[in-house]
Amino acid sequence: MSVALEDTFHRPLRDLRVSITDRCNFRCVYCMPKEVYGRDYAFLPRRDLLTFEEIVRLARVFAGLGVEKIRLTGGEPLIRRDVEHLVEMLAEIPGLDLTLTTNGALLAQKAQALRDSGLGRITVSLDSLDDDVFRAMNDVDFPVRTVLEGIETAAAAGLPVKVNVVVKRGVNEDSVLPIARHFRERGHIVRFIEYMDVGSTNGWRMDDVVPAAEIVAAIDAELPLEPLPPRYPGEVAERYRYRDGSGEIGVIASVTRPFCGACTRARLSADGSLYTCLFARTGHDLRALVRGGAGDDEIAAALGGIWRERTDRYSELRSAATGDLPKVEMSYIGG
Ligand code: GTP
Ligand code: 5AD
Ligand code: SF4
Ligand code: SF4
Repeated sequence: MSVALEDTFHRPLRDLRVSITDRCNFRCVYCMPKEVYGRDYAFLPRRDLLTFEEIVRLARVFAGLGVEKIRLTGGEPLIRRDVEHLVEMLAEIPGLDLTLTTNGALLAQKAQALRDSGLGRITVSLDSLDDDVFRAMNDVDFPVRTVLEGIETAAAAGLPVKVNVVVKRGVNEDSVLPIARHFRERGHIVRFIEYMDVGSTNGWRMDDVVPAAEIVAAIDAELPLEPLPPRYPGEVAERYRYRDGSGEIGVIASVTRPFCGACTRARLSADGSLYTCLFARTGHDLRALVRGGAGDDEIAAALGGIWRERTDRYSELRSAATGDLPKVEMSYIGG
């Protein structure tokens, strides 16, 4: 029997988030502000991206170390050509919860192919049902209707759908209740996310955060809620159910109630660097290992070493002092 892999704080490695492109067709104000990600921004050149074969090889090694869930992210993962082929390759790894986070823009076109390729479920980011607010938040004038069509197409194709909503004070707080009402009627779980100080480009301020407790109170006042226990240890979202039995919501309170203590997540960037925290400053270059001819055992040993030394708990330490440190961008490392 092998010894269970745990980091310095006895946290196992369970969850791998794989960014498959650093590009996106949106410019969400809290993630890829246009002033930074404009015309001249230097995205990764194609040769730097891990190939599908390289991603799958690493995924198998991670699965051997205890990873049970793989989430494909970006940038926007659906803009990577033939993404469904990657899903098909990953779906061959036994016992994985295989999922993907998308902005939904291309979902209506891709949903059936993703389902047919073996994707287990999907998470769609959608910050408002108000078309003006949504267009302003994605900052590329993208209509909300197309994302809603994507969600319905995915559900019709048999993919369980969750909806992620980042709430920013003064921008989309008024969208919380309409979104809760809309998806409650359609049976999709919505998770409201506190706006985080991820990356260095979004100009984050504590004043912009709407605390999860406030979001829960606002929904509860109209649609009474009660708390639910976590589905698995380390679940990021705190769950609530509507008291009338009509469904469930979640809140992700990474600013006001950090959950580093149970954080089992590793992140792989599109160019093959491993990050052991969303707020890490540097990664570990796995591409060099893979392209340098390392065998699976050697890669597993390297990953084990990195994980065992892991001490990250940024959200618990967040303070005025940590705020100004440079950090990697969410669009590079994936949500
Ligand atoms: P399920 O597998 O459906 O439970 O989803 P999940 O818990 O993996 O959540 P998801 O990937 O949808 O993450 C939702 C959001 O939570 C992300 O977009 C981030 O904003 C935030 N989040 C997820 N993981 C972390 C994390 O490790 N640290 C912090 N600080 N925030 C996170
Ligand atoms: N704070 C919280 N969530 C964010 N996301 C992107 N940037 C931030 C941020 N600053 C979320 C998106 C999406 C996922 C990819 O990451 O809304 O759900
Ligand atoms: Fe793109 Fe998602 Fe970032 Fe928005 S949050 S810019 S959709 S990667
Ligand atoms: Fe995990 Fe880092 Fe997020 Fe804490 S801040 S939950 S350690 S990714």
